[in-house]
Amino acid sequence: MSTCDFMCLNGDIVPYGEAKIHAFSAVVKYGLGVFEGLRAYWNAEHQQLYIFRLSEHLERLRYGMKVMRYERIFDAPFLEDCLLRTLRANAIRENAHIRMIAYIDGDDELTVTGPVGLVIGVVKRGPGKFLQSGVRVAVSSWQRIADNALPPRVKSTANYVNNRAAELTARLDGYDGALMLSADGKLSEGTGACVFLVRGGQLITPDGASDILESITRDTVMQAARTVHGLVVQERRVDRTELLAAEEAFLCGSGQEVVPIVSVDRIAVGDGQPGPVTRLIQDHYFRLVGGEIADHPAWRTPVWPGQ
Ligand SMILES: Cc1ncc(COP(=O)(O)O)c(C=O)c1O
Repeated sequence: MSTCDFMCLNGDIVPYGEAKIHAFSAVVKYGLGVFEGLRAYWNAEHQQLYIFRLSEHLERLRYGMKVMRYERIFDAPFLEDCLLRTLRANAIRENAHIRMIAYIDGDDELTVTGPVGLVIGVVKRGPGKFLQSGVRVAVSSWQRIADNALPPRVKSTANYVNNRAAELTARLDGYDGALMLSADGKLSEGTGACVFLVRGGQLITPDGASDILESITRDTVMQAARTVHGLVVQERRVDRTELLAAEEAFLCGSGQEVVPIVSVDRIAVGDGQPGPVTRLIQDHYFRLVGGEIADHPAWRTPVWPGQ
């Protein structure tokens, strides 16, 4: 995987190889990190790089730090400034994926709450491999973490042991990815993305009580579906077998963007091809994030000044 030349460590821009933390820090010992994965999109016409929905990502990062009882919660202007300096230091003028991690740096024991560290990196990244073909997923035997065990709403690094187990198992079994069920057997989400069904022309997605990450892309898709495409959107509990009654299904997330699901457990979703509603949503999403559509200007933070 290609990496960046420079990272941001605790507010300083440092060469990639120097972005180091102590091997006995609490983030290593206990997985005490919260993170965000964001995308930035290059608009050639505007000669501008736009970070998509930056303020929502920063708020979720700050929420995670609060839930995890960090002794210091970085303010949004500081986080934004560190991120902008990281992108500029790396001269990013193409589509990229950003990772910001706020972590407990202290080497004390389990209840340690600080010092709090911050690391930011960026990777140049083009379109995902499955955007056109769609993915063949399995319903995992690994249950999605429950809200009274580990907080699914928080992008806690420790949570991802669960996602990793599901994703790795699915891939080793010959699938492209996994969907996870909640502890009560209802559809929750993918391993790095939320899930939508299209049924009777309406969009259906597991609700906030289905142990999902409250995905920013899910919100973007729901807003566009309602206001631009005139679709009814239902947020509710979803049964596993309802997936197979759907005409279409897709995954969505900042990293994965909008990816059709073409089969579940080797049973075709609809006719086994990416469907028209998914394509409509996908197409609109890419035009929106890249600034081809002028709606929601506040969702696109320009990186390069004076352009
Ligand atoms: C577990 C999980 N669910 C959902 C998502 C999608 O969230 P968002 O759209 O905010 O990136 C992600 C991606 O970050 C994720 O890791």
